[in-house]
This record gives sequence, C-alpha cells and structure tokens, in this order.
Amino acid sequence: MNISVAKVRAAGEAYENLFSPYRLGDLELKNRMVLAPMTRSRALEGNVPNPLAETYYAQRASAGLIITEATQVSPQGVGYIRTPGIHSDAQIAGWKKITDAVHKAGGKIFLQLWHVGRISHPDFHGGELPVAPSAINPAIEVYTAKGPAKTVTPRALETSEIPGVVEQFRKGAENAKAAGFDGVEIHGANGYLLDQFTRDGTNKRTDAYGGSVENRARFPLEVTDAVVGVWGKERVGYRMSPNSLFNSMSDSDPVTTFSYLAEQLGKRGIGYLHAVDPLSDGANRISPLLRGIFKGTYIVNGGFDADSAEDALERKEADLVAFGVPFLANPDLPVRYRKKARLNVPDQNTFYQGEEKGYTDYPALV
Ligand code: PHB
Repeated sequence: MNISVAKVRAAGEAYENLFSPYRLGDLELKNRMVLAPMTRSRALEGNVPNPLAETYYAQRASAGLIITEATQVSPQGVGYIRTPGIHSDAQIAGWKKITDAVHKAGGKIFLQLWHVGRISHPDFHGGELPVAPSAINPAIEVYTAKGPAKTVTPRALETSEIPGVVEQFRKGAENAKAAGFDGVEIHGANGYLLDQFTRDGTNKRTDAYGGSVENRARFPLEVTDAVVGVWGKERVGYRMSPNSLFNSMSDSDPVTTFSYLAEQLGKRGIGYLHAVDPLSDGANRISPLLRGIFKGTYIVNGGFDADSAEDALERKEADLVAFGVPFLANPDLPVRYRKKARLNVPDQNTFYQGEEKGYTDYPALV
C-alpha cells in the first residue's frame, strides 16, 4: 500500500477519527491533533520566553495537545540563540504566564525538555567545549551571538558526570511542574544529546553507556526514569526520530536500536511515544513497527495533512498526529481542517527570530 497517497475526503465527509476526543492518561484531549514542537527563536535576554509566546500558544489552544518548542534544561544544554530555557526563575515565571494563557483558552500543554549536546559551540559556554557521548564533530554550521560558526569537536562526558546530566533533566521536569505545565516531553530526537547516546554513529563509548544497544539506551532511560519520578509515568512523553539524518546522525541498525528503546519505554508505561517519521520516507518508515512494540499512546509527525492524518488514525498507525508548519501558519488549524477551509501560506523567512510577524499575526478564519 502506498501510504503517501491519502484518500481525499469530499466536502461534507467528516474526519471521524481526527476530531474524536482522546483520553491521555487522566487528561481528556478534545481532538487527535497535536501542535508539534517547533523552535521559533524569539526568546529574550537570559533565554526567557518572549511574552508574545503567551499569545502564540493560546492562539493554538484548539489543538488536543500543545507541545512547546525545545527548551533547555541547563546552560550546558544550549546550542541556539534565542531558544528558551527552564532552569532559571525568570524562565519559570515566563512559562507560567504561557501555561496560564493556554489553560484559559481551554488547551493542554506539555514542555519539551532539551539538551543539545554537541550541536552547540564554545561561544555558548564561555569558551568551553560542548559535551557529547563521544568526541565527534558533527561538522555543521551553527549560529551564535557572533553569527554563523562551524561546530567543534565536543568533549566526551566522563562516566562520573552522567548522573549530573540526568539531574539537569529531573530539575527541568520539576521546574516545568512549577511553571504549570500539564506534562513534559523528553526530546530524544533530531540528533540532540539523548539521540547522540542512542545511535552508534555518535556513541563510541566503552563504558556502561556505549557499545550494545542496551548500553546506548541507558542514559535516555535514566533520564526517563528521573522525569517519571517527578511527573508520574502518564504525564511523560518521549520523542524520537529513528530515520532522521539531521544533525549528522547515523546508526548501523536503526530498527534494532529504536525497537529496543520503544520496548523499554513501553515497559515504563510512559504517557506516549512521539515518532518523527515523515510520510515522504515511504517504505523506509519505522514508526508502524514501533507502534506495534510500544503499547501506549502513539503520536506520529512528519508531513501529515487532514486526509493523511485521518488515514493514519483509521489504520491505527497512531492515536494522535502532530502538525508542525501547517499549525505554525494556521492558529485555528483544527477548525480549518474540519471545514476544509483554505489554509494560510507559511512564510519561511519568519520561522526563526523576529517578533510578531510570522508568529502571532497569522489570521484565523473570520
Ligand atoms: C532547530 O532549532 O533547528 C531545531 C530544534 C529542535 C529540533 C529540531 C531543530 O528538534
């Protein structure tokens, strides 16, 4: 079956799955649409969320669930300019206003907990090296306050430092609770720190955190256990991108690697597994396999529209579908999909940085 060709539904034909409510643990989601986590690079001095984010997220509260942009758990976890954190009092206070605004608008919101690992630069760390499982340069370009810069060879974390990094995530989870979130999503995707530990292209360690798939999954699972310790299992999600090559990632056997991780996350009974698995990957998609392994709530993301999402739900490939760019450009995406209304066109020039333009000024349907 060619799953990239969605059945197109006629006007008046309802999306029965997409707009049915869903019970995520003890949370009642009003539909199956999730706002995918998206970096928007508008944080202020001290990586404090921009007050405009109150409007941005509240505008999108008709999603069944909002997942925030990736948010650093510590200064060590920073690798991009103007991305928010959840490690200072000012950041927690900024996020509290955002969660209040979303709740007032009837939405539910999870914070995405992030550590970039090697996708960083000494400019972010007072000249010190970024940290990673192994000293392997991703050889890409990043942007620091001084402009574009080539990445460097990171420093491999000492075994004795790893509990401290787990603690950064635990503390971030605790801070997210103080900021009024409904839960947290652990960022295990897209070539950042947890993914760097998971895949063998970036993890060449010879201690208990490298080598076998069990060892490579150890750090991500320790982070998960620490975060579950704060929130309880149902309010914790985990995002992975098993096929993605973004940020110079590779793995010699992604099916085995991610099947093991999905199985272990499933054993822990976490709230959901969120797979970035683009429809455009066709027969190479891993997510249908992982869906069979992880028995809890399953979210897919990657190039879905209303028709392809409805199909994925209908064939039970997922319970929820996350939408990125379409939701960025259409604050009222659920009602537009429901009515099969015209969509706003996303403006790539305003995806990152700037203020209101391309952020809070996309019109809703009148
Ligand atoms: C980015 O800022 O480019 C970015 C951040 C988080 C992701 C992917 C990309 O997961």
